[in-house]
Formats: sequence, structure tokens, C-alpha cells
Amino acid sequence: MDLSSTCKLSRLFGCFFTPLTCKCCVALVTIALFFRAIFLHSFSGYGVIKSNNLRLILSPSLHLESHEGIRGDKFLEVPQIVWGLNNQKIAFARACLTARMLNRTLLMPSLSASLFYKEIDLLHPISFDQVFQYERFNSLCNRFVRLGRYSDLGNQTRKYDLRKGSGRKWTVERDLEQLKQSSRGPIDKYQVISMAGKNPFLWHDHWPVKDYARVFECLVLVDEIAKEADKVVSKIRRIGRKLRSKTNFGAEGSSLSHAPYVAIHMRVEIDWMIHCKKLEQRSRISQICCSKQEIMERVGNIVGLGSTAIVYLAVADSLLNDSSILDGWKRGLVPFEKKKLGVDGIYKKHSYLIQSAIDYEVCSRADIFVGNSFSTFSSLIVLERTQRVIRRGITSSCGIDVRWPSYAYNIPGESNGPQKWMTNMSDSNLKAISYGSNAISC
Ligand SMILES: *[C@@H]1O[C@H](CO)[C@@H](O)[C@H](O)[C@H]1NC(C)=O
Ligand SMILES: *[C@@H]1O[C@H](CO)[C@@H](O)[C@H](O)[C@H]1NC(C)=O
Ligand SMILES: *[C@@H]1O[C@H](CO)[C@@H](O)[C@H](O)[C@H]1NC(C)=O
Ligand SMILES: *[C@@H]1O[C@H](CO)[C@@H](O)[C@H](O)[C@H]1NC(C)=O
Repeated sequence: MDLSSTCKLSRLFGCFFTPLTCKCCVALVTIALFFRAIFLHSFSGYGVIKSNNLRLILSPSLHLESHEGIRGDKFLEVPQIVWGLNNQKIAFARACLTARMLNRTLLMPSLSASLFYKEIDLLHPISFDQVFQYERFNSLCNRFVRLGRYSDLGNQTRKYDLRKGSGRKWTVERDLEQLKQSSRGPIDKYQVISMAGKNPFLWHDHWPVKDYARVFECLVLVDEIAKEADKVVSKIRRIGRKLRSKTNFGAEGSSLSHAPYVAIHMRVEIDWMIHCKKLEQRSRISQICCSKQEIMERVGNIVGLGSTAIVYLAVADSLLNDSSILDGWKRGLVPFEKKKLGVDGIYKKHSYLIQSAIDYEVCSRADIFVGNSFSTFSSLIVLERTQRVIRRGITSSCGIDVRWPSYAYNIPGESNGPQKWMTNMSDSNLKAISYGSNAISC
């Protein structure tokens, strides 16, 4: 913290120091902190009384800290967030990071309950806090990014309209320069900066993977949706347990309590096949599309997969009546989709966005996940699983056996299986790891 901001903050609790006394104030606080540490360590017997007294003296400095982080009196407004769940998550994170760069609170944006490009007239706005926990988000992301409500705004709000450019000439540099200009000078005086222009998913990306990951970590589903995902996962595990007890009767006592399952984000529907063929031509990469047979074969060759496993197929609804996705799996792999599992009723109650959110959870919690490295949905799942592995102190899960391994079925790996997949958390932008890429860092 620099001196001038210390002085600004000291004014907050009512003392108007000159820079010189301000310096003394900092020194005093430092000395007090030093003595507090000594007291707490060497006189633990008296700790309660001493530390209580000291906390009284020090309370302004604790108060002082809570004013760091993101300003709560300046706001950023963004347009409604659209497209699929994971594009919406990325757009949301991008809006948060833009707000962070401007040191502003992001006004809670609307998400879209339906898929934008299929039903343009039916955008169905859904408030962020109907999908993710608002308070939880702010407490988990405290000091990093901050969400606010429209009711936090004063009555006489002055808004500045910030128009984003588009097209070829609107380069990453120009975009960044515009943001920098908006973070200071006359524009910064406005209480609200309102961004207009193409949907935020198309904005330029200025942030490293770690920053995105930090925002994603703060997204926790509301209880109502989380419970639906729990129902699906426990159904899968229940069937898995039955299966195990039939086939491995009495063999491995401990494994009976835990029935592992493999989740496959299987993209073989017509829309995707057309899209991926085009993508292959444009990018001159031949490993984007993958047929049903190739997926089945590669998954069957995963090293270390037990003799029996339940396989949950996260597929588009258009494939639910296509029994061929359930046939042809290697012996021991028992495939289910939501219809065969008997959970389609749970999904049907909800909008497109919530259905994806449930499927996302089911894939994310699977013991083994297999996806397509060119899919945003798969990529964000692997990102989350990678973070979970890293939190357990493992920095690379490529070569070794770890919990929650992930694989990319569109890239051949050892023994004709799918390639192990882990997110490169030190990449400088999200595009490199999430779409338009087969870099899977293993
Ligand atoms: C935002 O502004 C506050 C007050 O000026 C400052 O203390 C804080 O460090 C800034 N935060 C960021 C992320 O720049
Ligand atoms: C803000 O406006 C509302 C209604 O327009 C009014 O009821 C309220 O008193 C106003 N608040 C302030 C602080 O002016
Ligand atoms: C699947 O088939 C059933 C009846 O056989 C039909 O009612 C349903 O609409 C079909 N679903 C899809 C997605 O084609
Ligand atoms: C991860 O990304 C960084 C930055 O782009 C790069 O230097 C590094 O080689 C990558 N690591 C792997 C394993 O791909």
C-alpha cells in the first residue's frame, strides 16, 4: 500500500493526518503489530486479555484492510450474457475481470436460460443468483472481484456508455487501451460504466488462465440445482454398486462402498459433426472429430480401468433415442445416458441452461472424465478437475496415477487409449486451453 492511499484510508476513520504524521501512524501500527505478535507468542497464558486489548487498539487497521480490494461505489454494467452454459461462464468471468481491471463492482448480469443461436426470439433472461449463489460468490472471490446488485446504486446515477469496437481493426491492443483509458481520468468519475457492443464472449481476452480459474472457483450452484445433480450422481453410484456386487461378488470388500464411474462428454451429434469437419478444414488439424466407434474403442483401452465400470454418456438430447450409442462397448463397460438411467424426468423440469449445469456437475465429479479437447464444455470440466488435483499438491498428473484423471478422446494416447489431459494453468490466455486447441499439456 502506498503512502497516499494510507492517508486516504486514515481519513475514513476520522483522522486527518499530514503525510508526515501519516508516516508515524504507519510506524505505530507496525510497532503495535510487532508487540501483538510477541504477546501472542510468549505470553499465551495472558493471551486472551492482552490480545483483546490490542485488538481494540488495532481495530482501525483491521477495518482499513476491508477497504482494499475492489471499490464498492463504482460499477460496471454488461449486456445480457448469452450462448451455452460454458460460453456464458467464460463471458461472465471475462466481465468480472474487466470490472476488476477498472476496479469496479460488476452489476449482477443476466444469464440466458435458452441457447441463443437456436432460439433468438426466446433469450429467456435468468438472473445470475437463480443459478449461482450470490453471497457465496462474493465471499469466495473477496478482494479479487466483486458482484453488486442494482439496488446498491444511488438515485442519481451517472452512466458512461462504453462502446466496444468489433471487426478486424478492433485489435487486442486497441481494446486494452480503451479499458486503460476508462480506468482513469474523467470516465472513472462516473458511478456506472455501461458496456455496449457485441456479447462479452467475443470481447478480447486479456487475462491469464489462473485469473479465469479464480473466478470459476467462486461459482457455486444454488442448492436447488445442486440437489438435482446429487440425485443423478447418487443414481449412477447406486447402479454402479449393484453392478459391482454382482460381478465381483466377495472379491474386493472395500470397492463395494465406492462405485467409480466414467463420464464421457460424447459429441457425435450431427450439428457437432458438421461443425468439427469445418473446423478441421479451417485449422488444418485432423484430430477434432471423433466417431462413435473411435470413442468406444479408446475409452475401452484406458489403462487401469477396472474390469467393470459404469459409463455415463453426456450426450445431446437428439441422441437419446439412438440406441447405437449404447451398443458396442467393451465387455465390462456398462453405458447409460439419462434416459436409460431414468433421470430424464429430473432434467426435463429445467431450462437448457440448468440441464447443462447438472450435466456439468455429473461429469466434473466422475472418477474418470473423457471429453473432446475442442469443446468448451469438456475444457472447463478438465480445468476444474485440474484445480482439484493441484489443490492436493500434485502439479502434474500426466504421467502418474492420480484421482480424477481426465482424457481427451480425440487425441490418441498410450495403448490406443485416449490421451491424458490436464489444463496448463500457467497459460497466458483461456483460448489456448479451452477452444480451438488440442494442447492438452500431457
Ligand atoms: C481499488 O481501489 C482501491 C481504493 O482506491 C484500492 O485500495 C485497491 O487496491 C484497488 N484495487 C485494485 C484491484 O486495483
Ligand atoms: C430514491 O428514489 C426513490 C423512488 O424514486 C425514493 O423513494 C427514495 O427516497 C430516493 N432515495 C434517496 C436517497 O433520494
Ligand atoms: C424419442 O422417442 C419417443 C417415442 O419413441 C418420442 O416421444 C420422443 O419425442 C423422442 N425423442 C427425441 C429426442 O427424438
Ligand atoms: C504451459 O504454458 C506456458 C505458457 O504458455 C508454456 O511456457 C509451457 O510450456 C506450457 N506447459 C505445457 C506443459 O504445455
